[in-house]
Amino acid sequence: MMGLRFYLCFLVLFTSLFISTHGLGHLCLPEEHVALFIFGDSLFDAGNNNYINTTTDYQANYEPYGENFFKYSTGRYSDGRIIPDFIAEFAKLPFITPYLHPGYHQYTDGANFASAGAGALAETRQGMVIDLKTQLSYFKNFERLLSEKLDDAEAKTLLSRAVYLINIGSNDYVVPFTRNSSIFQSYSQEEYVDMVIDNLTFVIKEIYEEGGRKFGFLNLAPLGCLPLGRALNSGKTNECKHELTALSKLHNKALSEVLQNLENELNGFRYSIADTYTILSERINNPLKYGFKEGNIACCGIGPYKGINSCGGKRSIKEYELCENASEYVFFDTVHPTEKANQQFAELMWSGTPDIIGPYNLKAFTLPFITPLLYPGYYQYTDGTNFASAGAGALVETNQGFVIELKTQLSYFKNFERLLSKKLDDAEAKTLLSKAVIDLKTQLHYFKKLAKLLRTKLGDEEAKKLLARAFYLISISSNDYFALSTSNSSALQKPTLRKNMWKEICDSKLGTIGLFANCQVIELKTQLSYFKNFERLLSKKLDDAEAKTLLSKVVY
Ligand SMILES: *[C@@H]1O[C@H](CO)[C@@H](O)[C@H](O)[C@H]1NC(C)=O
Ligand SMILES: *[C@@H]1O[C@H](CO)[C@@H](O)[C@H](O)[C@H]1NC(C)=O
Ligand SMILES: *[C@@H]1O[C@H](CO)[C@@H](O)[C@H](O)[C@H]1NC(C)=O
Ligand SMILES: *[C@@H]1O[C@H](CO)[C@@H](O)[C@H](O)[C@H]1NC(C)=O
Ligand SMILES: *[C@@H]1O[C@H](CO)[C@@H](O)[C@H](O)[C@H]1NC(C)=O
Repeated sequence: MMGLRFYLCFLVLFTSLFISTHGLGHLCLPEEHVALFIFGDSLFDAGNNNYINTTTDYQANYEPYGENFFKYSTGRYSDGRIIPDFIAEFAKLPFITPYLHPGYHQYTDGANFASAGAGALAETRQGMVIDLKTQLSYFKNFERLLSEKLDDAEAKTLLSRAVYLINIGSNDYVVPFTRNSSIFQSYSQEEYVDMVIDNLTFVIKEIYEEGGRKFGFLNLAPLGCLPLGRALNSGKTNECKHELTALSKLHNKALSEVLQNLENELNGFRYSIADTYTILSERINNPLKYGFKEGNIACCGIGPYKGINSCGGKRSIKEYELCENASEYVFFDTVHPTEKANQQFAELMWSGTPDIIGPYNLKAFTLPFITPLLYPGYYQYTDGTNFASAGAGALVETNQGFVIELKTQLSYFKNFERLLSKKLDDAEAKTLLSKAVIDLKTQLHYFKKLAKLLRTKLGDEEAKKLLARAFYLISISSNDYFALSTSNSSALQKPTLRKNMWKEICDSKLGTIGLFANCQVIELKTQLSYFKNFERLLSKKLDDAEAKTLLSKVVY
């Protein structure tokens, strides 16, 4: 098992070397600190619409919104927390404040720009909401504020590490139906969807230009099957508004295509799509399975399915009914999930499997330094449960990639050697290193293979540029411990020593030993299962013959 283990361990090692040379001491800070920037509509609006000149039709800052958690109405369209609240919590951040809140000062944690009722098309509820493009302009304002608080490099790091959550489109499709508009006489459904997607793409690219790299999207719900959609169908009971759901499907297909294209087009761009369509359909059709009693009818509102948007009685229609216990319902009002449903959503977005969220889940996004080029390959082999059950799920979740310079690696290897021999006695260190060096060569062999892959993927010119600057590697996070059992070093296996080593790195800002020390306890059986996974992945990356050669050459 030498080959794989060292392969993985040394990638970790090199990684840390790189980090130390560039002074990014973040590994010793809370590792998962990332900022969250939130764009979109009412599913994400935490109260921006409280501060714009609009009407109560586009606000939720009155009873009974918010009452089950906040005990007052914050502007969130739910009985309690919304999806970004839970995501922030999982990412160990406080709730992300609405950007327009007069007391906003949360620079290093992010900002929420979302606006209830908003769409990707400027025309959607124009003048009443903050459309996506205007949200983008607020983000640019935010950046100016940020640059007053942090130096350039810090700001850049913050923006590139941040996760950009975007949920948009529902309003663009719903509005024509509620307005009895003739828009679909001028545009085909496909053309209309293209307009929405084009506007969204524009905004994604702008955020990318500003340094954003990690984007999390929700695709669209089966819009015609929400209480609002069913109410629109007033004549036919218990039926979804199929024309509306058809638009969701078109949109979702286009979204997924455009994001794949962007990933190819934009270096380092990574995305995640949470399959809202499936998540909601499952809960609408099978509420009991997910702990709800009612999946079709909303908790708050009036009319068929309580699908008429009157919750709170402050909009054009004043009558509304409120259920006793919102937690029994999937929907709180005509289109918005209850806090309980939001929580389920957020949990799936955070750590769900590739059948629900992919190519990444958000947890993977919040880990530092995920490699842009090779990592996606890992997660995109979505043989789902297989993947996870074999043990690679954990591996993938915690997988981190790092940029390293080969020359720096080699020079710092010497440093590592010195540090290591301080920790172990000389004989032990020598044994360890003699084995390590052999594997270093094997790694170089891997690098060459990878370089070849890069050339195929990027073309000669781009690959050359990239390779001149950096290598993209895969490594294991600090949560996964890889054994150096063959070193048989009792010193390395003492947990206290491991802790001391960590401390040393933190003090010295040399990432070396600590990460190396993390390469410790992993059972042989688990290693074997990782290895099998690795083999499978490898055979997808290289052709069969190549993979075989590679594996036969590895020293086990
Ligand atoms: C708010 O909007 C209303 C109606 O659109 C308009 O009459 C009013 O002047 C606006 N107020 C402000 C402060 O912009
Ligand atoms: C988006 O859509 C509207 C049409 O409603 C258009 O006027 C606007 O310029 C488009 N572009 C962006 C980036 O929002
Ligand atoms: C929608 O428009 C059509 C034709 O323009 C009209 O016949 C119909 O009554 C309208 N429906 C509503 C609900 O306004
Ligand atoms: C509300 O419903 C949930 C889910 O069925 C249940 O766990 C909870 O006890 C209920 N609360 C009250 C006050 O009845
Ligand atoms: C490690 O040490 C133990 C006991 O000292 C010995 O039995 C075992 O064979 C050693 N393993 C290796 C791989 O050297």
